[in-house]
Amino acid sequence: MKKFLALTLSTAMVAGMMAPAAFADETEAMDILPGDGQKIGVSMPTKDLQRWNQDGENMQTLLETAGYEVDLQYASNDPQTQLSQVENMISSGAEVLVIAAIEGSSLGEALDMAKENDIPVIAYDRLLMDNDGVSYYATFDNYMVGTVQGQYIIDTLDLENEDGPFNLEITAGDPGDNNAGFFFNGAMDLLKPYIEEGKLVVQSGQTEFEECATAQWKTETAQSRAENIIASNYADGTNIDAWLCSNDSTALGVENALAANYTGEYPIVTGQDCDKENVKNMIAGKQSMSVFKDTRTLALQVVKMIGQILNGEEVDVNDEETYNNNVITVPSYLCEPVFADVNNYEELLLDSGYYTEDDLK
Ligand code: BGC
Repeated sequence: MKKFLALTLSTAMVAGMMAPAAFADETEAMDILPGDGQKIGVSMPTKDLQRWNQDGENMQTLLETAGYEVDLQYASNDPQTQLSQVENMISSGAEVLVIAAIEGSSLGEALDMAKENDIPVIAYDRLLMDNDGVSYYATFDNYMVGTVQGQYIIDTLDLENEDGPFNLEITAGDPGDNNAGFFFNGAMDLLKPYIEEGKLVVQSGQTEFEECATAQWKTETAQSRAENIIASNYADGTNIDAWLCSNDSTALGVENALAANYTGEYPIVTGQDCDKENVKNMIAGKQSMSVFKDTRTLALQVVKMIGQILNGEEVDVNDEETYNNNVITVPSYLCEPVFADVNNYEELLLDSGYYTEDDLK
């Protein structure tokens, strides 16, 4: 049996490869089986959103520190580019692929090719759909992200005790991303009973996922939809009490629209990712909360799984039921998301080394 590598922040620092987003806890060690120079293909969707830059950098630093060669590519949110990048990774000898898909169902040809070449594929954060060439899935508990957001609205408006009615609007994610439905359903399963009872009123009438969705999670798209909703339903100063946003890039769009066109009392706004701009808005009172998914945790888990795969060890999974991709149920490892707001962000984001104080200025 191979010796485990205790990969720590200090190991990565000694190797001179510290990524801007430092690893979780200085003292944290995770048993990772060292590599032997094998090439790992890491395909990320876009550099436009902060989180994927962090994910890519974390993966690269950890993999190189553990002894692997890394082929890291970003696909400018273009599914066709991602398909050819993954195909190139396979042709150039990648032994494991890690893919965060732009569109879950657009990579079938590359997955077929990986399967023919016996290359294990780990779906990273977003499930790869409609194909049996996916070996494992590592992500955060996506449904739980939604329940944390929904519960926050319920608690903050005190819906158990208050009569309301309160006005709610909803902004969801990208229909091409399997996660988006989980976030939406997690929140709406909790909020729907209050909508049905009339305690929560959605003045725009837009409560279905398709109506609330935001193609490619774009801030500008979320902003223009929010501007329309405000102009049509709240132009007379009617209050919006809460705006459920599935993530931070869409929350930013809603916050821009509120700043430009809204005159009522500032609503509760939810988010996800703890992006720097959104944490700054949280501090400034423009966003109420965000769900923190520590990208360091996910990267460590994936590097651990890669070591297990390449050494023929049993691969760490903790969910073998939830994530069916329309062809197979993919064995998954779900990390736990954490609630963040203005009261705990210092401990969560600064004390843990995720951000520096300068990052949030
Ligand atoms: C991720 C979120 C992210 C969103 C937009 C989702 O798949 O899980 O963390 O905010 O994509 O990039």
